[in-house]
Amino acid sequence: MERRELLICGSLALLGSPALATSRQESTDLVVIGSGGTGLTAALSALEAGHRVMVLEKMPITGGNTQLAAGGMNAAETRPQAAKKIADSWKSMYDDTMKGGQNRNNPELVEILARQSAGSIDWLLALGADMNGVGRMAGASVDRTHRPLAGDAVGHNIVHALRQAAIKKKLDIRTNCQVLKILQAPNGRVTGVLVRNKYGELFSVQAAAVVLASGGFSANLARVASYRPEYAGFSSTNQPGATGDGLDLGAAAGGELIDMEHIQIHPTQAAGSKILITEAVRGNGAIMVNREGKRFVNELTTRDAASAAVLKQPGGSAFLVFDTAIRKSLKQIEGYYHLELVREGATPAALAAAIGANPQVLEQTLDTYNGYQAAKGDAEFKRVDMPRPIKTGPFVALEVRPGIHYTMGGLRIDVKTQVLKADRKPVPGLFAGGEVTGGVHGANRLGGNSISETVTFGRIAATQAGAYIRQVSKLKLG
Ligand code: FAD
Ligand code: FUM
Repeated sequence: MERRELLICGSLALLGSPALATSRQESTDLVVIGSGGTGLTAALSALEAGHRVMVLEKMPITGGNTQLAAGGMNAAETRPQAAKKIADSWKSMYDDTMKGGQNRNNPELVEILARQSAGSIDWLLALGADMNGVGRMAGASVDRTHRPLAGDAVGHNIVHALRQAAIKKKLDIRTNCQVLKILQAPNGRVTGVLVRNKYGELFSVQAAAVVLASGGFSANLARVASYRPEYAGFSSTNQPGATGDGLDLGAAAGGELIDMEHIQIHPTQAAGSKILITEAVRGNGAIMVNREGKRFVNELTTRDAASAAVLKQPGGSAFLVFDTAIRKSLKQIEGYYHLELVREGATPAALAAAIGANPQVLEQTLDTYNGYQAAKGDAEFKRVDMPRPIKTGPFVALEVRPGIHYTMGGLRIDVKTQVLKADRKPVPGLFAGGEVTGGVHGANRLGGNSISETVTFGRIAATQAGAYIRQVSKLKLG
């Protein structure tokens, strides 16, 4: 029996058990499951609107995968873009997202993502997050990936701002508390959740509404392989709590799971480690070469295409190659030095020797690329954005191979973030946002679109759950 079946069966058994009957009961207006970007955004927004909120997080710390987010957050028509005179439009972000998702995305959800992205940046700026750096990630037509000005990782910055706001507003967050089941009335209306704490004790929380913000399942390698057998044996970039039990909570409550086979492998996980090397390194100018020292792909093509190209190279890995100017442009690169993931050479030939590539081939590759960069045209791979040449030593290489990174599938939601059943009717009182949902990204997510999704849909979930709570309490009073 799979772990997810065990969980659901286990919690059903517990429901009728004496342990639950004697366990403590609490109550609130809104339960939020998960404390990543979506959960904290929804919880803070609902608290701000005057609702009582409880956040339940199964891991010992808050932040989920959101705190690991690296390259940035996509948004169009923003104030930081305007300050840099970058012309962009929500429609361009919409078109890029649909194209990147192979047009299998839900267009209504994509329109919301793109149209509301600038508002989400403003919301984060008001919270104290630094979203003032703007760069580019794969599949985008213009620079729209927002991150801290110095090029630090975006996730840590955002989660820090969210945590500070949570402390200030006394948000009720319970870590080490795993939700085992969404409780429902006989008519399917959500009435609360069943929870297990770190001591194995059970308690229930009554609530008029629940927001599922429990993330994806890229750390559940057995489940990944059950949908995509060809990914068996891959490593994951995710935090260990990204196991997908929230998907099963939603499905057990009646929600429909969609697009589960669409699983993203990120082309640049540091070989032999769990560390993600951010796409922003390529966005800021790095190229990828194979063991011989030759380029083999447009480094800023979409992730599905880039990963497939890396896997075709000898050994199924590649080297990211860049120089000191690119290193200086992105603070996150210093972290890769601290982790001793990089190799250096004073010249391209010395770098080639350090990674076992052919010195003449690597020299030629860099000369040719620098020529394309100067001429603003990549005759071989049609890379459009080449912001910097690679010519200032020391030169740097980092071995990378694809890793399981993001799960595009999940619970079907509507534009109000209501979780929908197979008959497309909502499960009353159940809302969801972020990686636990399916539909926003289609068959392939663009880098930077997930953090955008967490804030935008987290805010919508709070508004809609709030309206639902008010409606339910009016009915009760009446
Ligand atoms: P999460 O942030 O994962 O939060 C979900 C939380 O729910 C977790 O804390 C989890 O422990 C908890 N939970 C799960 N089940 C339960 C349960 N049963 N009970 C209680 N709690 C539960 N995207 C971008 O757009 N830009 C980037 O630069 C970027 N970089 C990334 C770098 C890395 C290394 C990784 C792994 C991902 C990156 N992503 C990026 C993707 C992005 O970070 C995630 O998709 C996004 O943060 C998911 O947010 P979320 O709120 O949906 O879930
Ligand atoms: O490469 C990265 O920085 C990851 C970005 C993302 O998953 O969106």
